[in-house]
Amino acid sequence: MSRTPAPVVSSILETIGRTPLVRVPLAGLADGVELWAKCEWFNPGGSVKDRAALSIINEGERSGALTKDKTIVDSSSGNTAVGLALVGRAKGYAVELVMPESVTRDRKCLCGAYGARLVYTDAFSGSDGAIVKVREIVAATPQRYFYADQYRNPANPLAHYRTTGPEIWEQTGGRITHFVAGLGTSGTVMGTGRYLHERDAKVRVVAVEPSDGLHGLEGLKHMASALVPEIYDPKGHDDKVSVETDDGYKMCGEALETCGLLIGHSAGAALWGAREVARSLRSGVVVVLLPDAGERYLVGQGNK
Ligand SMILES: Cc1ncc(COP(=O)(O)O)c(C=O)c1O
Repeated sequence: MSRTPAPVVSSILETIGRTPLVRVPLAGLADGVELWAKCEWFNPGGSVKDRAALSIINEGERSGALTKDKTIVDSSSGNTAVGLALVGRAKGYAVELVMPESVTRDRKCLCGAYGARLVYTDAFSGSDGAIVKVREIVAATPQRYFYADQYRNPANPLAHYRTTGPEIWEQTGGRITHFVAGLGTSGTVMGTGRYLHERDAKVRVVAVEPSDGLHGLEGLKHMASALVPEIYDPKGHDDKVSVETDDGYKMCGEALETCGLLIGHSAGAALWGAREVARSLRSGVVVVLLPDAGERYLVGQGNK
């Protein structure tokens, strides 16, 4: 079997992106339908959010808004926090992260290990509570901070427009017919979708969303009941699939049993949505983006 040469790079940051596309042979698909997963846990910080973190920090440096005397700050339910902590550390910046107390201990330890300072908000106010808090912190001493602001920063979708979209186009040889991904900040869907639409207007971009506001799919947002991210534009996707928390969780088990993929809960939800799409087709090439691995969710919540 011929294998692509392993990359040789001068910085860990160069290993962000270029993640593998893996075939997912789920049952119940027509012979003419291919389902592929973009496995984002191959990024060095373990999730898709490394792409956004790198893009936000690079754009901050380019515009002059981020200078060495500033602390990078943002709110995150976890993966962006890890991405910012990793990229900030590699580039020599101080990083401060605001997150709900309920974020897994593992995630908190990881950010701490990269040297980030953590600020906790009430678990019940979720990611929106952390957003409100980080805005207060920045408003109190704006000159101290570079506010990454992943919910408003165009560098977030730009990361996907510049990297995720082109990679998928290239990996499928331009054959992709459907792109499926979960909605959190919406950066993934907005940026990847825009690129794919520009390459081929017929590609259907499908956003996966929790069925209601009180859900257990970390990283995803139910737009009707959430603080809607400024970078989100409903016209950026062609369809929306609504998923129950339980179905997302069950899909994680199914992905493990049938394909040996240990995936996170939002990845389970996205894969559930992608299977719905794939099952409705007689032919097509469906690509689903899986943001992180199940490894992230093995330990308990809070400080247990
Ligand atoms: C686990 C997980 N899934 C999905 C998403 C959603 O990605 P995006 O913010 O690009 O919409 C995130 C974002 O933080 C995430 O951490």
